[in-house]
Amino acid sequence: MLELGVCYYPEQWPEHMWERDAQRMVELGLTWVRVGEFAWSLIEEEEGEFNWTWLDRAVDILGKAGLKVVMCTPSAAPPKWLIDKHPEILPVDAEGHVRKFGARRHYCFSSDIYREHAVRIAGEYAKRYGANPFVNAWQIDNEYGDHDTIHSYSESAKKAFQSWLASRYQGIDALNQAWGTVFWSMKYNRFDQIELPNSLVEEPSPTHLLDYQRFASDEVIKFNRAQVDIVRKFAHDRPVTHNFMGHNTDFDHYELGQDLDFASWDSYPMGALIHGKMDDAEKARLLRTGIIDQPAFNNDLYRQVGQGRAWIMEQQPGPVNWAAHNQSPHDGMVRLWTWLAFAHGIDVVVYFRWRQSKFAQEQFHAGLLLPNDEPDQAYFEVAQVAKEIAQLPQEIADRKTAKVALMLDYASRWAALSLPQGKDYSSARNMMNWYQALSAKGVDVDIVGPHNDLSAYDLVILPDIILENAELVQKLKASNAKIYLGARTGSKTQNMHIPDNLPPGEFAQLINVKVKRVESLPEYNQDLIVMDEQRFAVGNWRECIESDEPVLARFESNHRDQSPALVGNEKCWYGAANFSGAALEHLVDRLLSWAGVPMSSLGRDVRVTKRGPLHFAFNFGEHVAEVQMPEGAEILLGRAKIAPRDVVIWRE
Ligand code: GAL
Repeated sequence: MLELGVCYYPEQWPEHMWERDAQRMVELGLTWVRVGEFAWSLIEEEEGEFNWTWLDRAVDILGKAGLKVVMCTPSAAPPKWLIDKHPEILPVDAEGHVRKFGARRHYCFSSDIYREHAVRIAGEYAKRYGANPFVNAWQIDNEYGDHDTIHSYSESAKKAFQSWLASRYQGIDALNQAWGTVFWSMKYNRFDQIELPNSLVEEPSPTHLLDYQRFASDEVIKFNRAQVDIVRKFAHDRPVTHNFMGHNTDFDHYELGQDLDFASWDSYPMGALIHGKMDDAEKARLLRTGIIDQPAFNNDLYRQVGQGRAWIMEQQPGPVNWAAHNQSPHDGMVRLWTWLAFAHGIDVVVYFRWRQSKFAQEQFHAGLLLPNDEPDQAYFEVAQVAKEIAQLPQEIADRKTAKVALMLDYASRWAALSLPQGKDYSSARNMMNWYQALSAKGVDVDIVGPHNDLSAYDLVILPDIILENAELVQKLKASNAKIYLGARTGSKTQNMHIPDNLPPGEFAQLINVKVKRVESLPEYNQDLIVMDEQRFAVGNWRECIESDEPVLARFESNHRDQSPALVGNEKCWYGAANFSGAALEHLVDRLLSWAGVPMSSLGRDVRVTKRGPLHFAFNFGEHVAEVQMPEGAEILLGRAKIAPRDVVIWRE
C-alpha cells in the first residue's frame, strides 16, 4: 500500500497546537509522522538527566490521532554539555580547523567517546519507545555526509586509520608496496607513523587517499551498525532505516543498506539542479522542474540499497533555504515527484516539513503549512495525491527486475577522486548521462553494485568502474547479458596500480582491448568520432586503444593513427571515449537493439515506467503530451493526453 507522511518537530511549537496538528495530518490523508532527530538536548538536558515528558506526550497525541510514528535517534546533533565535556568529539576539516558547536553534525565518526554516547542515547530512546504501539519504524541519525562530514582529520581519526591499516595490511611492508612509498621516499617503518592525507605539500599517494576513503566509509558503517544493534534489541521487530542524501558517495551506501530493513533518501530536486553541472540554457529551462531524471535515478538507487524496500524520508515541498539560489517548483511538481517515487518502487513518501519554521536556520524553507498555519501550495498537492491513492488498488506490486542494469561502485568513485587526471571528469555526471539516455528511450533501469546478482539482465552497463574486480569479471562472463564497458573500466588494481596487462586489466577477459594512452580534455574541446557513418562530438576523456575486435566507431583523427572509439565482440563492447549528448543517444540506441531491449521514442520531457502491472507516464514539460497505450488499456488515473506536469496511470 502506498502511504504518505510528514516530518514534524513538536518541540518547535507550543504544546496546545499538537493535537490540532495531528488531526489535520490525518485529515490530509497522512499515515506516518517522523519525529525526534534533533531533540537530544531537550531530552537529556544534562548528562543522565532525562526529560521525556514532552516527547511521550507528542507520541501519544500523534499515535492516538491514528498516525504511525518514525522515531529517530538524535545523534546528528550532540548537545553542548557533551561537547564541553569531550571537545575531542568535534570533527576537524582538511585544513586542520576544528568544526565547532552551533549547528549540527559536529562529530567525528572516529571518536570512540562519541560512538559510546550515540549508542547510549539511541538505547535510551529505544528502551523508552521500543514497545510503544505508536512507534512503528526507526531512523538512525540523520543524513550521514550532510555538510561534508564523512571525512574528519582529527587525532582520533588518525589513530583509528592507523589500526585500520594495520589490520588491512597485516605488516608494514605490504602497505609500503601497495602505496608505492618507494616513489618519493615515503617509506614507513611502523603503522603509528602514518598521517592522514590532508595538508600535504603535494598530492598523497592515490592508494593512501583511496584507503583513507575506504576507512572513512567503514567508520560510518560501524557507527550506524552500533546504533542499529541497540535499537533492534528493544524495538520489537520494528523496521530500522537511515535517510541517505541522494548525491553523497563518501561512504558505501550498499554496505550500510545491508544493516537496514529498508532504505530511505531525501529528495530535493530544486537544489540538485542549482548545484548540478549542465549548461545555463538547460538549467533555465528546468529551473522549476529540476533535472528530470535525478529523482527517478535516486529512487532506483535506494530501492537497490534497501534491497527492494525504500521510502522518501524528506520530500521537498517548495523552495528550500540551502542552495545557491532557492526557486519554487512549478505548481504540480510535488504531486508529480510523489507519483514518480511510487512508480519507481518507493512505498512511503514523507514530506519535509509540516510547518515552515519561524526561527533559526531554515526560515526560508517551505513546509506544507505557512508559519501562520495556513496551507501552502504543497498541502493542496498532497491532499490530491492522498485522494488519488485511495482510488488505486490497495495492494501495489513491486517493480520487476529491469532488463538493463547500470553499475555504480562506490570504491570506484573514490578511485576517480584519488587520481582524477582531469578536473572536468565526473563519474556522477557520466552516470546521470547514461541514466537519462536510457530513460528517454522508455527503458527501465536497475542501479546495481558489483556485488549484485547480474544473471537476470539483458544488458549490463559499466560506465566507468575503475577498480579491477576478478569476481565481477567472472560474474559477467557467466551471465547471458550483453556488456558495455566505458572508458577507464578496470584501469586500476584494488591497490590503485596500473594492471600488469594495462587497462582494462581483468576485464580484458571479456574483450581484447589494451589501453595504451589516455587524454583528459577540457570541456571546450570536442573530438569527433564516426559511428554508423554519422559524426558525433565526444567529451572530456579519450583513450588510445589497441584491439583486434571489430571496430564500431572511430575517432576522426588528430593523432598519427585513427584509433577506434568503440570496439565490440558478440558479448562485450568497449568505449574509448566519454560518450555524452547525441553520441550517447546513438550509442544507447545501438546497445539496446544489440541486446534486444525494446525501446520507445518519447518526447524530451516525457517519461514512462512500470511497477508490477501498472504503467505510468509523466509529463515534465510545458505542453500537453500524448502517450500510446495498447487498445483496451484501463486508465486508473489521469488521461492519455497528459497535461503539463501531470501523470497518467494505466493497466494493460
Ligand atoms: C536535509 C536535512 C533536514 C533539513 C532539510 C532542508 O538535508 O536532513 O533536516 O535540514 O535538509 O532542506
